Amino acid sequence: EQPPTAELRRLAVEVATAAGELISAGRPDRVEVAATKSSPTDVVTAMDTASEQLLRQRLRAARPHDGLLGEEEGYEAGSSGLTWVVDPIDGTVNYLYGLRSYAVSVAVVSHDPAGPPDPDSWTVLAAAVVDPSAGETWSAGAGAGATLTDARGVHPLHAGAGPDLGQALVATGFGYHAARRAEQAAVVARLLPQVRDLRRIGTASLDLCAVAAGRVDAYYELGLNPWDFAGGWLVAREAGALVTDFAGGAAGTHGLIAAGAGLHPVLRETLGLG
Ligand code: IPD
Repeated sequence: EQPPTAELRRLAVEVATAAGELISAGRPDRVEVAATKSSPTDVVTAMDTASEQLLRQRLRAARPHDGLLGEEEGYEAGSSGLTWVVDPIDGTVNYLYGLRSYAVSVAVVSHDPAGPPDPDSWTVLAAAVVDPSAGETWSAGAGAGATLTDARGVHPLHAGAGPDLGQALVATGFGYHAARRAEQAAVVARLLPQVRDLRRIGTASLDLCAVAAGRVDAYYELGLNPWDFAGGWLVAREAGALVTDFAGGAAGTHGLIAAGAGLHPVLRETLGLG
């Protein structure tokens, strides 16, 4: 039996907050690059690993039958049909350099227990994205809306329809693979003359929360990993933004566009990637 969404959302906020405190308090003045993954720009710090371990331990203690999928340690199957999809530090490169935009993203999805959760068919039930530098906690429950909690209180999020493309502030991001970056640069060259401006914040989960709050008008990226977008996806969706892939289907690892319902189809057509 599935627990109430509100309970899952509370747990997501609780563990993401604890991990957020760990990574912000534990960030030394000079962060060592502990290992590199696919290319030298993809840095994995010791705090990344520590944050994921904290998330895994707390989630395992609270919900021992759920699965876990995390950026650093991969997939650990559970038996409940629910899996927690966690990014222990989203915005790792910002974190490494001392830029303040980074976050912990925690989402819980229901999925076919025969395999790992697949973004094309999973249902995201609850999510939290914690931005420790800003003191902001974004959260959402499926069908229950999305909120931003800060020092001043809890603010419900409502994304508008969005402006015309020419007035739109559009965020994007770039994966770590060189071949893909050439393709991304070509898309940027085409889009930049047609919009108000572009932003590369460096934290996919916060890009999606920014769409939810109207801090940017849209966000798109090619080739994200599930943990990069699962949490922010629900925040943006529950705020009323449209979030799809480039062909208009379910947003996934193949591509993602998030924007208000008015701007979304125009941006999707302009990107021409579908
Ligand atoms: C990255 C960030 C970045 C996005 C990359 C992601 P990480 O996640 O979200 O903004 O452009 O595609 O891989 O590696 O910092 O968790």
